[in-house]
Amino acid sequence: MFESLLWLEEVGSTQEFLKTKNLPMHTVVVAKRQTSGRGRMGRSWDSREGGLYLSFSLRAGFKDEQTLPLVVAYGVCQYLRSEGFKPAVKWVNDVYLQGSKVCGVLTEKTKDRLIVGVGLNVNQKEFPAGVEATSMALASGKEYNLVDVLLKLLDFLEGAISTFAQEGFKALKEHIENLLLFKDQEVLLYTPEPVAGIMKGIGEDGSLLLITSEGEKRFFVGDLTLRPRW
Ligand code: BTN
Repeated sequence: MFESLLWLEEVGSTQEFLKTKNLPMHTVVVAKRQTSGRGRMGRSWDSREGGLYLSFSLRAGFKDEQTLPLVVAYGVCQYLRSEGFKPAVKWVNDVYLQGSKVCGVLTEKTKDRLIVGVGLNVNQKEFPAGVEATSMALASGKEYNLVDVLLKLLDFLEGAISTFAQEGFKALKEHIENLLLFKDQEVLLYTPEPVAGIMKGIGEDGSLLLITSEGEKRFFVGDLTLRPRW
């Protein structure tokens, strides 16, 4: 799937680069560092050297397209498992290791393309104050070769995306549910208003299923945290 790759020393954002250049479908743009890395909901993404920052494009029009962030997060988890980690998918687009964020996924749609961005914390040892993050190196005590990480990661992403393209989200749903952070626990979902509930899993459409005081409800957006116990 990923036939051409562009490795940049520095770029504002691989996401913007891919959106504004007319590169062939599936081209992967990777940067050693980004000066304006972007996350979901207009947040910035700390993109210092040591992490892996990549974007690639897919043809829009997939069945179950809205579930793509979960599929990509699942591919990242499969890669991390192959390296001996025990990652979790935090609905809807994050990967966690040992209770902290190790990877974020951003999917955006242009006229005919889906632009998928992945930020994976690989060798960073420090993060900005207030950011609850970890890296592969912090979790394992080892240093990783970024090219090696990239090539293996792309293999797992290709595997997950191919299954998704051929069989739809239903083929991956159960595997993703088995990796869900906070499953069967009491959570708060900020929609942005906080909604409390017990996380039951995900629907066929990738929605989050919560048992709330008003019964089972489905959510399509929101930020999830464990419900604090006072
Ligand atoms: C999030 O968790 O909010 C998503 C973070 C996505 C970050 C990646 S890094 C590569 C690509 N370029 C960007 O500017 N953002 C994405």
